[in-house]
Amino acid sequence: MKILITGGAGFIGSHVVRLFVNKYPSYQIFNLDKLTYAGNLANLADVADRENYTFLKGDIVDAAYLDETFSKYNFDAVIHLAAESHVDRSISDPLAFVYTNVIGTVNLLNTARRHWASNLQDHLFYHVSTDEVYGSLGAEGMFTEETAYDPRSPYSASKASSDHFVRAWYHTYGLPVKISNCSNNYGPNHFPEKLIPLAINNIRNEKPVPVYGKGENVRDWLYVPDHARAIDVIFHEGKVGETYNIGGVNEWKNLELIELLCDLMDEKLGRPQGRSRQLITFVKDRAGHDLRYAIDSSKLMNELGWEPSVTFEEGLSKTVDWYLQNTEWLENVTSGNYQSYYEQQYVSR
Ligand code: NAD
Ligand code: TYD
Repeated sequence: MKILITGGAGFIGSHVVRLFVNKYPSYQIFNLDKLTYAGNLANLADVADRENYTFLKGDIVDAAYLDETFSKYNFDAVIHLAAESHVDRSISDPLAFVYTNVIGTVNLLNTARRHWASNLQDHLFYHVSTDEVYGSLGAEGMFTEETAYDPRSPYSASKASSDHFVRAWYHTYGLPVKISNCSNNYGPNHFPEKLIPLAINNIRNEKPVPVYGKGENVRDWLYVPDHARAIDVIFHEGKVGETYNIGGVNEWKNLELIELLCDLMDEKLGRPQGRSRQLITFVKDRAGHDLRYAIDSSKLMNELGWEPSVTFEEGLSKTVDWYLQNTEWLENVTSGNYQSYYEQQYVSR
């Protein structure tokens, strides 16, 4: 089987590529990535030389490139992760999200459909999406696969749109599709402008840890290798045309999560308990900040037998260890463009 994984040089994509390359030596895995600020081939250094792995540098917004690539490699299936993924960036540059997340996804759907036309049923288009398409919850309730879409940020609106197009290709053209909507991921290789890796990096450097608003927003955190395992299970055993929610059963208020992280890092860095909490700095809230996400993954758990493999404390501890052992990776990705992003996002507030 030849599988095209898009966005494989990013955070989640690199864990999916690694899992598939290692677990399925008989599959050919093709990683198509534009290598934006978020894409980093160092994330895949350990599998780069494998015989069943090929990297393709390309942009999903470029339909002619996709056409040539599908002709050349004759893929059996697509796992689509390539996206602009950061809510804060979507607020300052929404069009970039429309191009990659909406137009890029429609280009991929069009290309797959055209190239697979003679035997559509032997192929699969698996679209990886987010729980943010469902909008924002109050104190109660959880998102299920039946929850109506209610996206509120340019990022979630672009992902919701891409999900709708994927379903439209299933119903209108009979393209075999699967969709999963996952909660917030954390773990190794997470670009340090998202909350957890940014906080780890700032605590390490004894810099202020910015908490938006009062830190009362709630996210449901999942360890990234567990998301990759869920994608593997859904890809192989999920039903065509279906949607699966993936979550960590692990809700945390941002402030409580940051306090836990501060205490964990004090312990690991041999600092007096309470020292890193002094770095917590409340900053201006994000515009349209969704209050709470919580995901009900009982369909995935009951039908396909998936469940998270680690507790949050274990996953967070492994994550902190990874960042403390991979300071070169961290320093590479926090130089250059990252510095100007950071100054724009925080210093001018
Ligand atoms: P990421 O930003 O770390 O990686 C995205 C990757 O896509 C990068 O390697 C980037 O270079 C590539 N890319 C961007 N634009 C491209 C283009 N036009 N053509 C080709 N490649 C392009 O994102 P992530 O956090 O790994 O998220 C991966 C997917 O999972 C996204 O679709 C995202 O919406 C979804 N998701 C993420 C989370 C999360 O917590 N991070 C949760 C649920 C779902
Ligand atoms: P983020 O990692 O950007 O993920 P998402 O917005 O997709 O959930 O943010 C997670 C939560 O942390 C979100 O409620 C915003 C908040 N946050 C901060 O409080 N400070 C920060 O510096 C960042 C990046 C996020």
